[in-house]
Amino acid sequence: MFTANALSGDKPEQYAQLAEQARALVAGESDRIANAANLSALVYHALPGLNWVGFYFFDGRELVVGPFQGLPACIRIPLDKGVCGAAASTGRIQRVDDVNAFADHIACDSASRSELVVPLYAPGGGNNALIGVFDLDSPDLARFDVEDERGIGEIARIFVQSLG
Ligand code: SME
Repeated sequence: MFTANALSGDKPEQYAQLAEQARALVAGESDRIANAANLSALVYHALPGLNWVGFYFFDGRELVVGPFQGLPACIRIPLDKGVCGAAASTGRIQRVDDVNAFADHIACDSASRSELVVPLYAPGGGNNALIGVFDLDSPDLARFDVEDERGIGEIARIFVQSLG
């Protein structure tokens, strides 16, 4: 059975521990639903101040909601809409301190105040490289800093690598 130990130390140390737990969780498994579900649950329960953690997968046209923790969410997001669409279409991590100041933000849960979205690309690039995004929402303003960006970026890499 997987046991998630409480994280300790400063933020980079905590993210190193979380990454280790994430690697253990996906070890030997390449199913994308299974790994997305378990990683969403791991992150949601390990980090404070979150109200939504989950995946959107690119279906060739738009982003479609995948495994997550939190309230029911918008099902489909076009690539030119929202923070998730911006991450997917630019290939850049989106860290938004105040979602109400982000013109294009899609409010799935009205409690969300800040958001971190990591784009997921298959290694090697190419036309079909976009896998989707990993999205974290917080009810707190400016919940995410550059250390969260790095730490969650690493969890996203672990997910992509697990797909083989
Ligand atoms: N707020 C996101 C939509 C997804 S939900 O937060 C789960 C966005 O603007 O893309």
